[in-house]
Amino acid sequence: MADILDGKKLRDKIFENLKIKLDKMPIKPTLAVILVGLDSASQIYVRNKKKTAEKLGINSLVIEYPENITENELLKKVDELNNDKNITAILVQLPLPKHIDKFKVIDSISPDKDVDGLTPYNLGKLFAGEEPYVYPCTPKGILILLDEYKINIEGKHVVVIGRSNLVGKPVAQMLLKRNATVTMCHSHTKNLSEITKTADIIVSAVGKNVIGEKMLKSNCVVVDVGIFKDENGKVRGDVDFEGVSNIAAYISPVPGGVGPMTIASLMLNTVELFERNL
Ligand code: GUN
Repeated sequence: MADILDGKKLRDKIFENLKIKLDKMPIKPTLAVILVGLDSASQIYVRNKKKTAEKLGINSLVIEYPENITENELLKKVDELNNDKNITAILVQLPLPKHIDKFKVIDSISPDKDVDGLTPYNLGKLFAGEEPYVYPCTPKGILILLDEYKINIEGKHVVVIGRSNLVGKPVAQMLLKRNATVTMCHSHTKNLSEITKTADIIVSAVGKNVIGEKMLKSNCVVVDVGIFKDENGKVRGDVDFEGVSNIAAYISPVPGGVGPMTIASLMLNTVELFERNL
Protein backbone atom coordinates (compact mmCIF):
# COMPACT_ATOMS: atom_id res chain seq x y z
CA MET A 1 0.00 0.00 0.00
CA ALA A 2 1.20 3.48 -0.87
CA ASP A 3 2.25 5.90 1.84
CA ILE A 4 0.13 9.03 2.07
CA LEU A 5 1.63 12.42 1.26
CA ASP A 6 -0.21 14.15 4.10
CA GLY A 7 -0.62 17.81 3.16
CA LYS A 8 -2.83 18.57 6.13
CA LYS A 9 -0.28 17.44 8.68
CA LEU A 10 2.51 19.35 6.96
CA ARG A 11 0.32 22.46 6.63
CA ASP A 12 -0.34 22.38 10.38
CA LYS A 13 3.39 22.13 11.09
CA ILE A 14 4.12 25.06 8.75
CA PHE A 15 1.38 27.14 10.40
CA GLU A 16 2.72 26.41 13.87
CA ASN A 17 6.12 27.84 12.90
CA LEU A 18 4.61 30.72 10.95
CA LYS A 19 2.42 31.71 13.92
CA ILE A 20 5.44 31.87 16.22
CA LYS A 21 7.18 34.12 13.69
CA LEU A 22 4.13 36.34 13.18
CA ASP A 23 3.51 36.69 16.92
CA LYS A 24 6.93 38.32 17.21
CA MET A 25 6.27 40.86 14.45
CA PRO A 26 5.31 44.34 15.67
CA ILE A 27 3.59 45.10 12.34
CA LYS A 28 1.79 42.35 10.45
CA PRO A 29 1.45 41.73 6.71
CA THR A 30 -1.85 42.53 5.00
CA LEU A 31 -3.18 40.28 2.25
CA ALA A 32 -5.77 41.78 -0.11
CA VAL A 33 -7.89 39.30 -2.08
CA ILE A 34 -10.07 40.38 -4.98
CA LEU A 35 -13.04 38.15 -5.76
CA VAL A 36 -15.19 38.81 -8.81
CA GLY A 37 -18.59 37.15 -9.27
CA LEU A 38 -20.29 34.22 -7.59
CA ASP A 39 -18.20 31.18 -8.60
CA SER A 40 -18.96 28.85 -5.71
CA ALA A 41 -15.53 27.16 -5.57
CA SER A 42 -13.80 30.57 -5.62
CA GLN A 43 -16.04 31.81 -2.81
CA ILE A 44 -15.06 28.85 -0.65
CA TYR A 45 -11.34 29.26 -1.47
CA VAL A 46 -11.39 32.97 -0.66
CA ARG A 47 -13.28 32.47 2.59
CA ASN A 48 -10.73 29.85 3.56
CA LYS A 49 -7.79 32.14 2.71
CA LYS A 50 -9.23 34.94 4.85
CA LYS A 51 -9.99 32.65 7.79
CA THR A 52 -6.53 31.10 7.65
CA ALA A 53 -4.76 34.45 7.42
CA GLU A 54 -6.63 35.76 10.44
CA LYS A 55 -5.92 32.65 12.48
CA LEU A 56 -2.21 33.20 11.90
CA GLY A 57 -2.29 36.92 12.66
CA ILE A 58 -2.06 38.14 9.06
CA ASN A 59 -4.41 41.02 8.28
CA SER A 60 -6.73 40.27 5.41
CA LEU A 61 -9.02 42.25 3.23
CA VAL A 62 -11.48 40.66 0.80
CA ILE A 63 -12.76 42.95 -1.93
CA GLU A 64 -15.81 41.54 -3.67
CA TYR A 65 -17.20 42.70 -7.00
CA PRO A 66 -20.25 41.62 -8.97
CA GLU A 67 -19.79 39.60 -12.16
CA ASN A 68 -20.44 42.68 -14.34
CA ILE A 69 -17.60 44.86 -13.03
CA THR A 70 -15.66 46.42 -15.92
CA GLU A 71 -12.03 45.62 -16.64
CA ASN A 72 -11.14 49.27 -16.05
CA GLU A 73 -12.73 49.34 -12.60
CA LEU A 74 -10.79 46.23 -11.66
CA LEU A 75 -7.51 47.65 -13.00
CA LYS A 76 -8.14 50.83 -11.03
CA LYS A 77 -8.58 48.84 -7.82
CA VAL A 78 -5.35 46.87 -8.39
CA ASP A 79 -3.52 50.14 -9.01
CA GLU A 80 -4.92 51.55 -5.78
CA LEU A 81 -3.78 48.46 -3.85
CA ASN A 82 -0.34 48.64 -5.52
CA ASN A 83 0.06 52.16 -4.17
CA ASP A 84 -1.37 51.50 -0.71
CA LYS A 85 1.52 51.10 1.75
CA ASN A 86 -0.71 49.18 4.15
CA ILE A 87 -1.31 46.41 1.62
CA THR A 88 1.65 44.04 1.39
CA ALA A 89 0.23 41.22 -0.78
CA ILE A 90 -2.37 41.14 -3.56
CA LEU A 91 -4.23 38.12 -4.94
CA VAL A 92 -6.81 38.23 -7.71
CA GLN A 93 -8.85 35.05 -7.44
CA LEU A 94 -9.16 33.18 -10.74
CA PRO A 95 -11.14 32.51 -12.85
CA LEU A 96 -12.30 35.99 -13.84
CA PRO A 97 -15.44 36.55 -15.95
CA LYS A 98 -14.95 36.17 -19.71
CA HIS A 99 -15.31 39.88 -20.52
CA ILE A 100 -12.20 40.64 -18.43
CA ASP A 101 -8.72 40.00 -19.83
CA LYS A 102 -7.16 38.07 -16.95
CA PHE A 103 -3.64 38.62 -18.28
CA LYS A 104 -4.13 42.39 -18.27
CA VAL A 105 -5.30 42.24 -14.65
CA ILE A 106 -2.53 39.91 -13.44
CA ASP A 107 0.09 41.95 -15.34
CA SER A 108 -1.04 45.07 -13.48
CA ILE A 109 -0.17 43.65 -10.02
CA SER A 110 3.05 45.07 -8.65
CA PRO A 111 5.60 42.17 -8.73
CA ASP A 112 6.66 42.83 -5.14
CA LYS A 113 3.04 42.35 -3.97
CA ASP A 114 2.29 39.46 -6.36
CA VAL A 115 1.67 36.78 -3.72
CA ASP A 116 0.68 34.18 -6.37
CA GLY A 117 3.94 34.67 -8.30
CA LEU A 118 1.89 34.90 -11.50
CA THR A 119 2.96 38.25 -12.96
CA PRO A 120 5.21 38.16 -16.05
CA TYR A 121 8.05 39.51 -13.90
CA ASN A 122 7.89 36.68 -11.38
CA LEU A 123 7.05 33.92 -13.88
CA GLY A 124 9.76 35.30 -16.19
CA LYS A 125 12.35 35.15 -13.41
CA LEU A 126 11.28 31.58 -12.65
CA PHE A 127 11.52 30.52 -16.29
CA ALA A 128 14.95 32.18 -16.65
CA GLY A 129 16.20 30.19 -13.67
CA GLU A 130 16.48 33.34 -11.52
CA GLU A 131 14.85 33.92 -8.14
CA PRO A 132 11.34 35.41 -8.39
CA TYR A 133 10.00 37.39 -5.42
CA VAL A 134 7.86 34.34 -4.68
CA TYR A 135 7.03 31.03 -6.37
CA PRO A 136 3.45 30.19 -7.42
CA CYS A 137 1.58 28.66 -4.48
CA THR A 138 0.52 25.22 -5.72
CA PRO A 139 3.88 24.32 -7.32
CA LYS A 140 5.70 25.56 -4.23
CA GLY A 141 3.41 23.46 -2.01
CA ILE A 142 4.02 20.36 -4.14
CA LEU A 143 7.81 20.69 -3.82
CA ILE A 144 7.63 21.31 -0.06
CA LEU A 145 5.48 18.17 0.23
CA LEU A 146 7.88 16.02 -1.84
CA ASP A 147 10.84 17.33 0.18
CA GLU A 148 9.11 16.59 3.48
CA TYR A 149 8.84 12.93 2.46
CA LYS A 150 12.45 12.99 1.18
CA ILE A 151 11.40 12.04 -2.33
CA ASN A 152 14.39 12.43 -4.58
CA ILE A 153 13.75 14.61 -7.65
CA GLU A 154 17.17 14.82 -9.28
CA GLY A 155 17.42 12.70 -12.44
CA LYS A 156 13.87 11.36 -12.01
CA HIS A 157 11.40 11.28 -14.85
CA VAL A 158 8.52 13.52 -13.80
CA VAL A 159 5.40 13.56 -15.96
CA VAL A 160 3.31 16.70 -15.49
CA ILE A 161 -0.23 16.50 -16.82
CA GLY A 162 -1.84 19.91 -17.46
CA ARG A 163 -0.13 23.04 -18.80
CA SER A 164 -1.77 25.90 -16.87
CA ASN A 165 0.10 28.98 -15.71
CA LEU A 166 -1.12 28.27 -12.18
CA VAL A 167 0.29 24.75 -11.89
CA GLY A 168 1.62 22.79 -14.90
CA LYS A 169 4.05 25.27 -16.43
CA PRO A 170 5.60 26.63 -13.23
CA VAL A 171 5.87 23.23 -11.51
CA ALA A 172 7.66 21.88 -14.58
CA GLN A 173 10.19 24.72 -14.38
CA MET A 174 10.74 24.22 -10.66
CA LEU A 175 11.30 20.50 -11.20
CA LEU A 176 13.73 21.23 -14.05
CA LYS A 177 15.65 23.49 -11.72
CA ARG A 178 15.90 20.54 -9.36
CA ASN A 179 17.37 18.46 -12.22
CA ALA A 180 14.36 16.29 -13.00
CA THR A 181 13.69 15.10 -16.55
CA VAL A 182 10.28 16.62 -17.16
CA THR A 183 7.65 15.58 -19.70
CA MET A 184 4.61 17.82 -20.16
CA CYS A 185 1.34 16.20 -21.16
CA HIS A 186 -2.00 17.86 -21.91
CA SER A 187 -5.35 17.39 -23.61
CA HIS A 188 -3.76 16.84 -27.04
CA THR A 189 -1.17 14.31 -25.86
CA LYS A 190 -1.37 10.99 -27.67
CA ASN A 191 -0.85 7.69 -25.84
CA LEU A 192 -0.86 9.29 -22.39
CA SER A 193 -0.52 5.96 -20.61
CA GLU A 194 2.60 5.04 -22.62
CA ILE A 195 4.21 8.14 -21.17
CA THR A 196 2.84 7.87 -17.62
CA LYS A 197 4.10 4.24 -17.44
CA THR A 198 7.65 5.59 -17.64
CA ALA A 199 7.18 8.17 -14.87
CA ASP A 200 8.93 8.02 -11.52
CA ILE A 201 6.77 10.91 -10.34
CA ILE A 202 3.39 12.03 -11.74
CA VAL A 203 1.92 15.47 -11.12
CA SER A 204 -1.65 15.53 -12.40
CA ALA A 205 -3.45 18.88 -12.61
CA VAL A 206 -6.36 18.30 -14.93
CA GLY A 207 -9.61 18.44 -12.92
CA LYS A 208 -10.94 15.20 -14.42
CA ASN A 209 -10.52 11.57 -13.46
CA VAL A 210 -7.63 10.62 -15.79
CA ILE A 211 -5.20 8.39 -13.86
CA GLY A 212 -5.81 4.72 -13.13
CA GLU A 213 -3.42 2.08 -11.77
CA LYS A 214 -2.90 0.46 -15.20
CA MET A 215 -1.28 3.68 -16.43
CA LEU A 216 1.51 3.67 -13.85
CA LYS A 217 4.63 1.73 -13.02
CA SER A 218 4.93 0.25 -9.57
CA ASN A 219 6.53 2.30 -6.79
CA CYS A 220 5.95 5.62 -8.54
CA VAL A 221 5.02 8.79 -6.66
CA VAL A 222 1.62 10.30 -7.48
CA VAL A 223 0.76 13.92 -6.76
CA ASP A 224 -2.92 14.66 -7.38
CA VAL A 225 -3.63 18.36 -7.91
CA GLY A 226 -7.10 17.94 -9.40
CA ILE A 227 -10.18 18.69 -7.34
CA PHE A 228 -13.78 18.50 -8.48
CA LYS A 229 -17.14 17.10 -7.41
CA ASP A 230 -18.29 13.91 -9.11
CA GLU A 231 -21.91 13.21 -10.16
CA ASN A 232 -22.74 12.19 -6.57
CA GLY A 233 -21.31 15.41 -5.12
CA LYS A 234 -18.22 13.65 -3.72
CA VAL A 235 -14.95 15.61 -3.77
CA ARG A 236 -12.49 13.80 -6.02
CA GLY A 237 -9.10 14.19 -7.63
CA ASP A 238 -7.62 13.19 -11.00
CA VAL A 239 -6.42 9.86 -9.63
CA ASP A 240 -8.31 6.65 -8.85
CA PHE A 241 -7.08 6.66 -5.26
CA GLU A 242 -8.00 3.10 -4.26
CA GLY A 243 -6.54 1.42 -7.35
CA VAL A 244 -3.40 3.53 -7.52
CA SER A 245 -2.73 3.06 -3.79
CA ASN A 246 -2.09 -0.61 -4.56
CA ILE A 247 0.90 0.05 -6.77
CA ALA A 248 2.32 3.52 -5.99
CA ALA A 249 4.99 4.13 -3.33
CA TYR A 250 3.41 7.47 -2.35
CA ILE A 251 0.13 9.19 -3.20
CA SER A 252 -1.37 12.52 -2.22
CA PRO A 253 -5.06 12.27 -1.26
CA VAL A 254 -7.87 14.60 -2.34
CA PRO A 255 -8.87 16.30 -0.16
CA GLY A 256 -5.96 16.62 2.27
CA GLY A 257 -2.95 16.56 -0.07
CA VAL A 258 -2.02 19.44 -2.36
CA GLY A 259 -4.93 21.72 -1.35
CA PRO A 260 -3.69 22.41 2.20
CA MET A 261 -0.16 22.87 0.81
CA THR A 262 -1.39 25.56 -1.59
CA ILE A 263 -2.83 27.59 1.25
CA ALA A 264 0.27 27.00 3.37
CA SER A 265 2.37 28.38 0.50
CA LEU A 266 0.10 31.39 0.16
CA MET A 267 0.67 32.24 3.81
CA LEU A 268 4.43 31.63 3.49
CA ASN A 269 4.51 33.88 0.40
CA THR A 270 2.57 36.61 2.21
CA VAL A 271 5.15 36.64 4.98
CA GLU A 272 8.09 36.41 2.54
CA LEU A 273 6.92 39.45 0.54
CA PHE A 274 6.36 41.40 3.75
CA GLU A 275 9.82 40.63 5.11
CA ARG A 276 11.48 41.43 1.79
CA ASN A 277 9.76 44.81 1.57
CA LEU A 278 10.35 45.87 5.19
N1 GUN B 1 -7.87 29.81 -8.52
C1 GUN B 1 -7.57 28.53 -8.24
N2 GUN B 1 -6.35 28.44 -7.66
C2 GUN B 1 -5.87 29.70 -7.58
C3 GUN B 1 -4.66 30.27 -7.08
O1 GUN B 1 -3.75 29.59 -6.59
N3 GUN B 1 -4.55 31.61 -7.18
C4 GUN B 1 -5.51 32.38 -7.74
N4 GUN B 1 -5.31 33.69 -7.81
N5 GUN B 1 -6.64 31.90 -8.20
C5 GUN B 1 -6.82 30.56 -8.13
